[in-house]
Amino acid sequence: MGTHFYYQDRYLFSEKVNLLEFASQNKTPFYLYSQSKIEENCKLVLEAGKSLDFLPCFALKANYNPAILKLIQSLGFGADVVSGGELQFALKAGFSAEKIVFAGVGKTAEEIELAISTGIHSINIESVEEFELVKKIAHQLRKNIAIAFRINPDIEAPTHDYIATGKHINKFGILLSDALRLYRNAADDQWLNPIGLHVHIGSQILKVEPFLKTADYLLESIENLKARGLPISALDLGGGIGIDYSENIFSLPRWPLKEILPAFLQKFKGQNLKIMLELGRAIVGDAGLLITKVLYRKQTPLKKFIIVDAAMNNLLRPSLYNAYHPIVPLQISEKEKEVVDVVGPVCESGDFLAQNRELQAVEAGDYLAIGGTGAYGQALASNYNLRPMIPEYMVKEEQTKTIFKGETIEQIANKYEW
Ligand code: LLP
Repeated sequence: MGTHFYYQDRYLFSEKVNLLEFASQNKTPFYLYSQSKIEENCKLVLEAGKSLDFLPCFALKANYNPAILKLIQSLGFGADVVSGGELQFALKAGFSAEKIVFAGVGKTAEEIELAISTGIHSINIESVEEFELVKKIAHQLRKNIAIAFRINPDIEAPTHDYIATGKHINKFGILLSDALRLYRNAADDQWLNPIGLHVHIGSQILKVEPFLKTADYLLESIENLKARGLPISALDLGGGIGIDYSENIFSLPRWPLKEILPAFLQKFKGQNLKIMLELGRAIVGDAGLLITKVLYRKQTPLKKFIIVDAAMNNLLRPSLYNAYHPIVPLQISEKEKEVVDVVGPVCESGDFLAQNRELQAVEAGDYLAIGGTGAYGQALASNYNLRPMIPEYMVKEEQTKTIFKGETIEQIANKYEW
């Protein structure tokens, strides 16, 4: 099963920690991450870009736990942020301002001010109106800011509609024709420094073709810029490299990082440009498990339900995208397999973690691990049904560290006026 998550004598381990032992000593549900796996994912990215002038960034939206941010920062990564909140977390976690890029279609004036006055690496411009606002604020502050134009290349990404971002039907990016006009304007401006282009065509992409198509589109666009005598020094290639969410996540991980990323980057060798990435899922997605305890079994004339203590408020992806996450027991038994729905306590029929899933029979008190939950797991969690945010732990060899204590109802209550 691999070295980060594997079975030994029927027990699931993360690194050197027996997860059944750990789960029985701690309140469930909780998230648990393998530090070595995150480190190795980061190293694969650094390796893929080693012959380039390279700044890989971590997309905080995937997971903004400070311990994870500090770890990724210490390995040399920059940060990709999409809000003032993420910018503040990135700075607090130790990312230097020159390694932070700021994207997003709805940056507020306050956020833009913060980004410019902090002196971040660059702001990715997503619309004509936003360009005007960034320019105005840079002038008011009398501070330089580097900008890149996020182009919408109208390229199809084979993924869920909600997370495809590179088509003209999507709200993201700016038309190349608009960008070319604004680029000239920026190049002539005292405070703006246009450094290049940005693209991000979508998330959870497992095919190389859309990336190669995007690369060709960018290379052509660069020629277009150069032909007009416009300066270009950087390309931000976005994120989007998917992970394998099948049961293989434990045994054959990371083929997208090993195969797609090098092929994509290869296209930019010899361009003499700084190449940036904004990877989220590929760095942390396969490094996390959501551990949950079975509360009840329940049978209707049509379905067998396994009711667990984790729910859609902890892991929204199955409910929101119909996403498949592998589920395995913390202890393998002799019991027969059965087809079940794994559901949570939240009061919605859409609250499921798996439907019609073949699983080893489990009963109240047994534990399950839900794989591929390191990215967009805790980050998408909410207090729906007044369920507190759950703890997060980091494993390194035999050590486990609490990296988020979880919340209490009192802490939630204290945010309100009574
Ligand atoms: N850069 C930009 C501009 C983005 O919009 C995103 C993700 C990324 C980078 C990082 O993408 P990644 O490398 O993680 O694919 N909640 C969804 C994913 C939403 C992704 C949004 N943008 C999910 O759970 O699948």
